[in-house]
Amino acid sequence: MKLLSGKQMASVDKRAIEEYDIPSLQLMEQAGTQLYYAIKDMVSKDDRILIVCGSGNNGGDGYVLARLFYGEGYQVELLALETKDLSEDCRVNLDFCADLHLDFASEIGNHNVIVDAIFGTGLSRNIEGKYKDIIEKINTSDAKVISVDIPSGINSSDGKVLGVAVKADITLTLQTAKIGLYLYPGRVYSGKISVLDIGIPPILIDEVNSNIYLSDKAMMKGLLPKRSIHSNKGTYGKILCVGGSTKMSGAISMAAIAALRSGCGLLTCAIPESIRSIVATNVLESMYLPLPEKDGQITKEATTVLKEQLDNYSCVLIGCGIGRSEDIVDVLQVILDSDVPLLIDADGLYALKDLLPHYKHREHLIITPHMKEFSRLINIDVDKIVDDPIKHGLQFTAEYPNITLVLKSETSFVMQGDRVYINTYGNNGLAKGGSGDVLAGIISGLNAQKQNELESAILGMFLHAYSADLLLEEQTVYSILPSDLFKKIDVIIKGLEG
Ligand code: ACO
Repeated sequence: MKLLSGKQMASVDKRAIEEYDIPSLQLMEQAGTQLYYAIKDMVSKDDRILIVCGSGNNGGDGYVLARLFYGEGYQVELLALETKDLSEDCRVNLDFCADLHLDFASEIGNHNVIVDAIFGTGLSRNIEGKYKDIIEKINTSDAKVISVDIPSGINSSDGKVLGVAVKADITLTLQTAKIGLYLYPGRVYSGKISVLDIGIPPILIDEVNSNIYLSDKAMMKGLLPKRSIHSNKGTYGKILCVGGSTKMSGAISMAAIAALRSGCGLLTCAIPESIRSIVATNVLESMYLPLPEKDGQITKEATTVLKEQLDNYSCVLIGCGIGRSEDIVDVLQVILDSDVPLLIDADGLYALKDLLPHYKHREHLIITPHMKEFSRLINIDVDKIVDDPIKHGLQFTAEYPNITLVLKSETSFVMQGDRVYINTYGNNGLAKGGSGDVLAGIISGLNAQKQNELESAILGMFLHAYSADLLLEEQTVYSILPSDLFKKIDVIIKGLEG
């Protein structure tokens, strides 16, 4: 699903009105009607509903909603925060409610459902005064809070809080989702998000020049690598996992299993000789390329062996448990100089930092840093990246157009060129050592089959994060282990196949 900023959505509204002759009042009526049907399923006639309306069209949507609830005999009250200087359509609908003698409240009372129709995408400055007071009261009430379009106070373009914001349990966003709903902290304020179709022609959304997409379940089915009856293990890619050390033999094992679980046909672990028996016990299906080592880490002598071997593989994964040393930088350089599709993770990214200033652009490269690793890689303070991950990610992918960037956080991003895919699946059960190794394994396993970095990264990110969500049906976020994710990858793939 394409995500829009507030400005982009306003231009879509404008085109719908001017080019498709949809009267703005009709759009507001449709918005209010769809909100009514969505909220009706969440409430009963015993509920006391308060709809808090601002002065713009978001408030107008709220007045339409109130009228419809009133017409159906629900207990609904309105809290009109402004009665002067309203938008034209808001004025019409407020007057309509007044003519019908709907109840107007002056305060939040014993309401158990509050609809926030204070500000939508038109929020333009910090919230103060009576608006601040009412939002704080909404946030401390025990009522279920439903926001119209976006929680009031959240900037629709970047998810920032403008002074104060409504903490919604549910956000019903209109026609298409807004970017700010998915970026931190907007994501935390939005609660469960549903998109309501209010009848704006979809082509108007398609034509918006936005390259920011939500990685939703609907797009994943088409990304699954194809399988055929007429095939063998060689058909589904050969991956070489370069990594491991005596201190971290589990990382390479988990990455290898993840690659196999995502369908890769043949796998070889290129690891220090001394950890071979451990990895062999963990990954029964693996073949081995033992590499020279010192103090339990791969040494630069491995470059000779690797140079001879790289052409035999459809993807190389380097970094999981590999450790940090000058020698690892030399090993990475040799692989970067080859043409083999490559994914660099973990300590591989540490080595990449030294090579980036002299980086010769190559095709088929994925990197999977978390925010701190990315900060180190591009020499920008981590707080600045957390504050605006899309800006910093896009600056990087503009400079390195052939690198697919997987930027990991509670909201994760896949970026390539000027395109951004936002993943909001997953939970804090993934905040555990080893989780990144599984992700790197899944993505490189897919890429060994697909030879398409962007698609492998989008699907891999989804398989990883959604596996964690499925695990919550039987486990808590405390107890999830990265290796538990393997149980669910298959369940998800089965769902995508069917
Ligand atoms: N403090 C006090 N007042 C503020 C603040 C603030 N911090 N920030 C903004 N305002 C006021 C402004 O006065 C502004 O009015 P102005 O444009 O006269 O300056 C008003 O609040 C903005 O209110 P919103 O309701 O957020 O903005 P808008 O009127 O643009 O409506 C909309 C937003 C269209 C409802 C959007 O959120 C939305 O839902 N879009 C999806 C499409 C849709 O619903 N369409 C149906 C509505 S009909 C139509 O849009 C034509």
